[in-house]
Amino acid sequence: MNATSSNDDTITTSAPGKVILTGEHFVVHGSHAVAAAINKRARATVSPTKELESEIVSDGVTSPVLRDDGLFQVIKSVVASIFKEYGKPKSKFRIQIDSEIPQGSGLGSSAAIAVATSAALTSFMGEKMSNDQIRDLASVGEKSVHGNPSGIDTQASLQGGVFLFNRENGPKPIRIDRALQLLVVFSGRTRKTAELISKVNEVRNKNPGSFQHLLRAASFLSVEVSDALTRCDLPRLGSLIDLSQLSLSCIGVSTNELDTLIESLRMADALGAKITGAGGGGSVIALPKQEEADLLLRRISSDYPHSFLTPLPQEGLRWEM
Ligand code: PMV
Repeated sequence: MNATSSNDDTITTSAPGKVILTGEHFVVHGSHAVAAAINKRARATVSPTKELESEIVSDGVTSPVLRDDGLFQVIKSVVASIFKEYGKPKSKFRIQIDSEIPQGSGLGSSAAIAVATSAALTSFMGEKMSNDQIRDLASVGEKSVHGNPSGIDTQASLQGGVFLFNRENGPKPIRIDRALQLLVVFSGRTRKTAELISKVNEVRNKNPGSFQHLLRAASFLSVEVSDALTRCDLPRLGSLIDLSQLSLSCIGVSTNELDTLIESLRMADALGAKITGAGGGGSVIALPKQEEADLLLRRISSDYPHSFLTPLPQEGLRWEM
């Protein structure tokens, strides 16, 4: 992989957020899932600084890179694991993060920041990294926020595209011959993935047998979604997305508010709609009739201004000039 540095030693990388089309939560416990990178990105710029301490800057807030005060937890744990693996760089540096991905929205903001930071900082240090090495470093950031991530978010940010994924076999890219538009609607309610994951763990511990059946169904649905994408069979894809929402409701990660939003998208003629990511708030995706994608966006935007269309597929990690 080639790193590009601009005038001085400054390195800028960017990585996309993601949506999950089916299989979230179940993927943590071993099922298949389908994810896609989206057209919202996080950017990391690493440059030398004359300050006494290396620092992280985001949204006008600055924090020393080594102070363990919980601020910028993801970035700090990525930096700590880079130092552990490769030693500290000779010069002090500044990491500037600019992200278009709303945090806590189910759109993979922390994974995108972790991937962009891992790539930019190691490149700044002169290390030549493989994708696997960048992924492993970025995963440390994800683990610091929710303990046992499946790795699907990191994979989407790193590799981009649309893919079928499970923990055992990793990603299998899905080729889609016709560009596809998905609608993403941020409910406006942020939440913590870790809390939703432990809620699902409780459901699983109370009903291990039933959970296994739901998990198998989610895995099967993901393979079906992959097939519908390959064939560009959008009516089938829409109904699989609806089925996937039912399985998420069964494990308690939907809310009345999200159910209402999903129903209004279906009433507005979406082919299918569901939560994307951990649920409990966050975001919803809808599959528009492709010729009516703009119309669906307009219909929903008055109530949900943080809505956007994303064409699929999207590029993964990128070195910016
Ligand atoms: O953190 P989110 O909302 O982007 O969701 C991540 C997807 C989960 O399946 C809930 C967790 C995981 O690690 O796969």
